[in-house]
Amino acid sequence: MAFTIRRDVSLEALNTFGIAARARCFARIETIEDLQALRERPEWADGPRLILGGGSNLLFTRDFDGLVAHVALTGRDYLGDDGDHHLVSACAGENWDAFVRHTLREAWPGLENLALIPGSVGAAPVQNIGAYGVELVERFAWLEFFDLATGRVARMNADACGFAYRDSAFKRELRGRVVITRVVFRLPKRWEPRIGYGDVRAMLEEQAIDRPTALDVADVVTAIRRAKLPDPAVIGNAGSFFKNPIVTSPVFDAIRACEPNAVGYPQADGCVKLAAAWLIDRCGWRGHSLPGASGRAAVHDRQALVLVNRGGATGAEVLALASAIAESVAARFGVALEPEPVIV
Ligand code: EPU
Repeated sequence: MAFTIRRDVSLEALNTFGIAARARCFARIETIEDLQALRERPEWADGPRLILGGGSNLLFTRDFDGLVAHVALTGRDYLGDDGDHHLVSACAGENWDAFVRHTLREAWPGLENLALIPGSVGAAPVQNIGAYGVELVERFAWLEFFDLATGRVARMNADACGFAYRDSAFKRELRGRVVITRVVFRLPKRWEPRIGYGDVRAMLEEQAIDRPTALDVADVVTAIRRAKLPDPAVIGNAGSFFKNPIVTSPVFDAIRACEPNAVGYPQADGCVKLAAAWLIDRCGWRGHSLPGASGRAAVHDRQALVLVNRGGATGAEVLALASAIAESVAARFGVALEPEPVIV
């Protein structure tokens, strides 16, 4: 379809929270040429811009009075190997879970712990997606991006991406400056299952699988996610709403002194990553909404770290609930919670 810019477009189906925000101008990007054409258009220079991928990690708090570019580049390729790894690429608009399943069908293991994460391939590096003991950075080779200042496509390696826990340069200094167009993964030829995460190990034991294949791990991870996390197709959400906060070990010890069951994971640098879900749950939020509010924004009843849109919630309602949660956690535990999704 020829490249067009549409006006006053609903974004409701394009964000997994299902927030009914609208865009003043909207362009669907299917090719690099579309990106080049977009830069020439007057709407490009007229007001703010937002690059939208799978919409699975953002919260609209108002209508977007500018240009939304929805990245829908598709295509997957096998680029050969570097000796020990398969190099496999996918364009930014490919669905993440469909890509993971494709790699498993082709017998290229490595992404199985990241099965069923909602969103697109292009969004995956933005927050360095991670689950069940694996982070994207561990399987990352390089990515290609369109530089919005120069109109050229270039390559970026992991160092330049600045990956950290649920974070990257794309959330910080590169925000609004580049469009990720393609991501290349390094998938190990000599593969070992990563099954140290408690829930994964327990489900494998329950199913009496002692030497799991990558497909077994993907299926177990998928089953755990389905049991705990709400399906965005059924109830709007953006996965974990807060990052798990990292505190020093004396801070963790002080919390443990009052709350012996507090959940924390020691980090390589001596700090402790706290389970934000546990903190929020302990403050009594699981399954609840903000007292006195409409009740349309709520805390998921099976995972306290996930906020949900029960239907018709505004982004402002979700944000008000998130603020109240963060305030109660700060008051009770002295720990600051930081939102994980991008707030627009
Ligand atoms: N817990 C509670 N109450 C709850 C939920 C959990 O007390 O309502 C406790 C659990 O008992 C457990 C701990 O909190 O001991 C951690 O819970 P869980 O294993 O569900 O993991 P999480 O830390 O809440 C993180 C990621 C998820 C990822 C899982 C599995 C972040 C912010 N979240 O959640 O990622 O799927 O681990 O690896 O790091 C996402 O980023 O959107 C996401 C879903």
